[in-house]
Amino acid sequence: MSALLLFGATGDLARRMLWPSLYALDVDGLLAADLRIVGTARSALDRDGLAALVADAIAAHVSGGLGNDAAVAKFLARLDYVPLDATDMAGYGALRAAAGPDGCPVAIFLSTAPSLFGATIAGLQAAGLACDNVRLALEKPLGSDLASSRVINDAVASAFPEDRTFRIDHYLGKETVQNLLALRFANSLFEPLWNAGHIDHVQITIAETVGLEGRVDFYDGAGALRDMVQNHMLQLLALVAMEPPGHFGPTSVRDEKVKVLNALRRIDTGNVAAHCVTGQYGPGVADGKSVPGYAEELGHASNTETFVALKANIDNWRWKGVPFYLRTGKRLPSRASQIVIQFKPVPHLIFDTKGATVSANKLVIELQPNENIRLMLMTKTPGLDRDGIRLREVPLDIGMDNAFADTRRRIAYERLLLDLIEGRSTLFVRRDEVEAQWRWIDGIRAALAANGIAPKPYAAGSWGPSAAIGLAERDGVSWHD
Ligand code: BG6
Repeated sequence: MSALLLFGATGDLARRMLWPSLYALDVDGLLAADLRIVGTARSALDRDGLAALVADAIAAHVSGGLGNDAAVAKFLARLDYVPLDATDMAGYGALRAAAGPDGCPVAIFLSTAPSLFGATIAGLQAAGLACDNVRLALEKPLGSDLASSRVINDAVASAFPEDRTFRIDHYLGKETVQNLLALRFANSLFEPLWNAGHIDHVQITIAETVGLEGRVDFYDGAGALRDMVQNHMLQLLALVAMEPPGHFGPTSVRDEKVKVLNALRRIDTGNVAAHCVTGQYGPGVADGKSVPGYAEELGHASNTETFVALKANIDNWRWKGVPFYLRTGKRLPSRASQIVIQFKPVPHLIFDTKGATVSANKLVIELQPNENIRLMLMTKTPGLDRDGIRLREVPLDIGMDNAFADTRRRIAYERLLLDLIEGRSTLFVRRDEVEAQWRWIDGIRAALAANGIAPKPYAAGSWGPSAAIGLAERDGVSWHD
C-alpha cells in the first residue's frame, strides 16, 4: 500500500483542482490500485465527510462527463481523513498511522498557507513522516521576497532534500506551456532564428478578466508583481529564452532556466519608470457587466497593483538588445495568455508597395483560453496587378483544438500530481530558480518604492493604464491584442 497525504484537503484549491485532477488520473487508470489518499485539514470531518466533499468537488469541477458513478465510488474508496491542526505536534501520530503499515507516504502535498509550512514540516519530521524517498510538494506563494522565501526553503531543506522538493508553478503543468518546449526543441525551423540576429522583441501577456475573487487578504498583500510575474511570467520568459537543454530532465532543463533568470538585468532605481508601469483597476465593465473598482471590492484604499507592464532585458549573447515586454493584470478586456515572438523585418524590400505597410513576421503562441500557434507571413494578394505585387499578412495557423479534437484537455494539476506521485521533477521549480525570480522582483519593488511610484488607475475592462502603452511605444512597439 502507498499513500499520498494532502494538507489543505478541504480548501479552495483542493476542491477546484486537486480532487478533480486526482479523480481524472484514477479514471484514466494512472493511479496505483493500492494508492490511498489521506486528506488532512483543521475541519472536524471524518472519512465520509471528506468523501461527500470530494464527490461535490468532482460534480462541480470535472467537465465533460468523465467517468461515471462507479468510477466516483471507486475513487472515494481510496480516501481517508485525519483532522489536524498543523501547529499541534501531537496530532501528527494519527497521520502517520493513516499513511500505511510502514508510515511512509509516497508524497505529501502542502496546499496550505505558507505561514503553516514551518510548523507542518516540524510536525512531519517529528512524526517520522519525512522518511526516505517521500516527496514534498509546495504551493505558492513561497515567500513574499527573497529573504522570506529563503526562510521557507531552509525549513524545507532541514527535512527534505532538494531532489525530493517539488515546488509547484501550475503554469508548468499546462499542456500549452509544455508545447512551447516542443515547438522550440522538436522542430529545426525556429532555433536558428531564435536570437538577437532575427528577433526584434518578445511579448508575454497574461490577461485576466476576473477581479479579486474574494481573495482579499492574500491578494492585497501580494499584488500582480508577486502574484503573477515572480512565478508564472518569469517561468514563461525562461522557457522562451533558455538555451536548448541536453535532454528533458530536471537538471538539464532547470540549469538552463536558471541561467536566464540570473541573466535578467536588474531594473534600478534610476530607470524604473522606463521599465515598469503598475496600475490598479477602478470601476468599469468586465465580461459585459459593470464591476466595482479594486478599492471598492476591498473596502478601503490600497496601494496594491492589479496590473503591471515591464520591459525586461536579458544580458547574454543570444538576447543582446532584445527587449522582453511582459504584461499581466486583472479586469482586462479578455482572458488571454500569449507569447509573441516578433521577428525583424526583411533587410530590403524588392516590391513597390505603394506606401502599404509590410509587416515583419511574427509567431503568436496562444496559451489560453484557446490553444493556437500562428505564424504571420506576408503573401501575395491574388490578382493581376499591373503595378506590381500586392502583399497581405496571412496567418499560417495550427489550431491545436482542431488538430487534437479527440483528445481530452487536461488541467495543469493532472500532469503535476502524476509527476509528483511518480517522481519526475522537470516541471517543478528548483530553489535557485525561485530565489533568482525573487531577487529580480525585489529589485523592482525597491526601485518603485524608492521613487514613490504608486499604481496608476485604469478602468476595469481596459488594457491597463495608458503609460503601459507608452512603455512599448517609446521603442516603436505596439502590444499585440
Ligand atoms: C494564480 C494567481 O497563481 O494564477 C491568480 O494567484 C491567478 O491570481 C491565477 O488568477 C491564474 O491562473 P490561470 O491558470 O487561470 O491562468
